[in-house]
Amino acid sequence: MDEDFKIKQVKGLLALDSRGNPTVKAIVKTERGIGVGISPSGASKSSKEAVELRDGGKKWNGMGTSIALSKLNEVIAPRLVGIDSRKQAEADILLVALDGTSNKSSLGGNTTTAVSIATSKAAASTAGLELFEYLGGVGSKVLPTPILNVINGGVHAGNNLSFQEHILIPAGAGSFSEAIRMAVEVYKNLKEVIKEKYGKNSVNVGDEGGYAPPMNSSREAFEAISAAIKKAGYSLGSEFFIGIDPAASEFYDKEKRKYIVEGKEMATADLLEYYKELVDEFSIIYLEDPFDEDDFEAFKEITKELSKKVLIVGDDLYATNVTYLRQGIEARATNAALVKVNQVGTVTETLNYVRVAKEAGMRPVVSHRSGDTEDPFIADLAVAIGSGIIKTGAPARSERVSKYNRLLEIESLLGPSAMFLGKEPFLRSM
Ligand code: PGA
Ligand code: ZN
Repeated sequence: MDEDFKIKQVKGLLALDSRGNPTVKAIVKTERGIGVGISPSGASKSSKEAVELRDGGKKWNGMGTSIALSKLNEVIAPRLVGIDSRKQAEADILLVALDGTSNKSSLGGNTTTAVSIATSKAAASTAGLELFEYLGGVGSKVLPTPILNVINGGVHAGNNLSFQEHILIPAGAGSFSEAIRMAVEVYKNLKEVIKEKYGKNSVNVGDEGGYAPPMNSSREAFEAISAAIKKAGYSLGSEFFIGIDPAASEFYDKEKRKYIVEGKEMATADLLEYYKELVDEFSIIYLEDPFDEDDFEAFKEITKELSKKVLIVGDDLYATNVTYLRQGIEARATNAALVKVNQVGTVTETLNYVRVAKEAGMRPVVSHRSGDTEDPFIADLAVAIGSGIIKTGAPARSERVSKYNRLLEIESLLGPSAMFLGKEPFLRSM
């Protein structure tokens, strides 16, 4: 029986991500099971993340992954063969040791992420368990409240919006599938609202499937979302709420120590004021990376002021890394922590980060990347850890929808025991 779980074969293959960039796909086989993992890739990356190994040079505009794939096939594969696929920590510690750097720059975080995910899936498949059950146990019953980036800006879109993500939150729904239906209805109405005001050239979409209209301020974006909520027959503040991921490091001028927002220079205090106005005007309950990724003090300030009504989330601030998370806990910098497996590079390190966040009373929020793939791993991860919230883009484009579709499947598998917490996961004051 134990023999069945032994890793027999590990293979790396080229795949493309949703932006058409090469990425790493890993296939791990046991005697009776198989797991496939594909690494996603960010655009507004934190400087604290695991490094992606890219070939450089002319081919693929420097983005090739042939070195990463040869490391996978020649360095990692021979060492993983023979290990029990259920020993996720043993396999991941081996990856960390083989890499030998603090940021996975030798093997590449893109390489280790794919292998680590594939290993967990191979074990689940060999055991005949659903991945979320295998990773989280029999208590894994909470379907996350989806938060959907429906207007894209920043480095995810070719428009003038400084803030990266304008997020629709169907927290008043009674179930996951109802939340998705309501979100789709608003997403469709949003298209009409944008078309009416900005013309038909304005409904093209950005990297995460949200519209990328030629707006100049986030207020315009939230006004359009509010109008779409109303047009769909819902109300903002009870059925729907709004979230923002400004990804503030992207518009922070480190020299001037100023944020360049919507054509204006803003000091930290000005930006804080702007957030407070938006929170009150638009029923905002989620705010990720409001300040630069190194400014723990500014995070601490906003958390002190808003944590009773808003989830303040560290993404680039923590980069799914317990070292930075511990700094945030110490400083009471946020009341939530974003979770992206490829920021740290292994499933084991991700689960450890989630444990530390939860122990500190911080809400873990599972997230996709702007360059993503058909791999729905994070859907199972969200249910396994009981994150209560998942951020995986607009309800459009297959790399986004693959996660929603997997969650719909999990909801159906769980049947009447499936739980959906709606707004509850957002209420977490520090
Ligand atoms: P990224 O952005 O995947 O481009 O880094 C997503 C986010 O900031 O949450
Ligand atoms: Zn973010």
